[in-house]
Amino acid sequence: MTQDELKALVGQAAIQYVVPGEIVGVGTGSTVNQFIAALAAIKDCVPGAVSSSVASTERLQALGIRVFDANEVDEIAVYIDGADEIDGRGCMIKGGGAALTREKIVAAQSRRFVCIADASKRVEVLGGFPLPVEVIPMAMRRIQRQFQALGGSATLRLKDGQPLVTDNGQHILDVRGLAIRDALAFESEVNQWPGVVTVGVFAHQRASVCLLGTAQGVETIRYD
Ligand code: A5P
Repeated sequence: MTQDELKALVGQAAIQYVVPGEIVGVGTGSTVNQFIAALAAIKDCVPGAVSSSVASTERLQALGIRVFDANEVDEIAVYIDGADEIDGRGCMIKGGGAALTREKIVAAQSRRFVCIADASKRVEVLGGFPLPVEVIPMAMRRIQRQFQALGGSATLRLKDGQPLVTDNGQHILDVRGLAIRDALAFESEVNQWPGVVTVGVFAHQRASVCLLGTAQGVETIRYD
């Protein structure tokens, strides 16, 4: 199976985790796009979704799925999202699509995080994928130096030759050269650096379940 076929497989498999009658949290990315397509087929079973990005909101609305503001909803039953990497404890690197801040907000609001990913995303140690960090532009240089002190190399993400601007009006640093063995401690430390909006390590908001697309089909991995 191709990577796209594996993404379609796990996108469809995630439908079984949607709770009828409850709002569903929706992530961002090519794997989630497959989930959104599958969700459209059962859209009358849920009141709607809370979305983690402008891109996902537009896609949901185009398919006739109502999108609620996060502030209109107290708690979300389940959040479905992809990952750039996921380790053996359900900790992830996310933000390859620059939506990490809103993804973490919706994940924190949700009782359960179901990660959908193809098998290439499964790793022993996080950090092979460049770690996305959303930053306030005036703090960029300082944060780059702080990552350098940890052995990482942080570069500003560009789009069409210009610094990428996130849905929140900020920039993204991509950090290479890290091996993140204690994801909880790493996330806690980087989170409190001045100017960091969100670090793309999801350890406090780790996955409860991962639906991993493999050549043999969907493997369900539970972490709780
Ligand atoms: C978006 O910002 C990311 O966190 C995505 O969830 C992650 O990059 C996975 O994307 P794909 O499903 O496109 O690989």
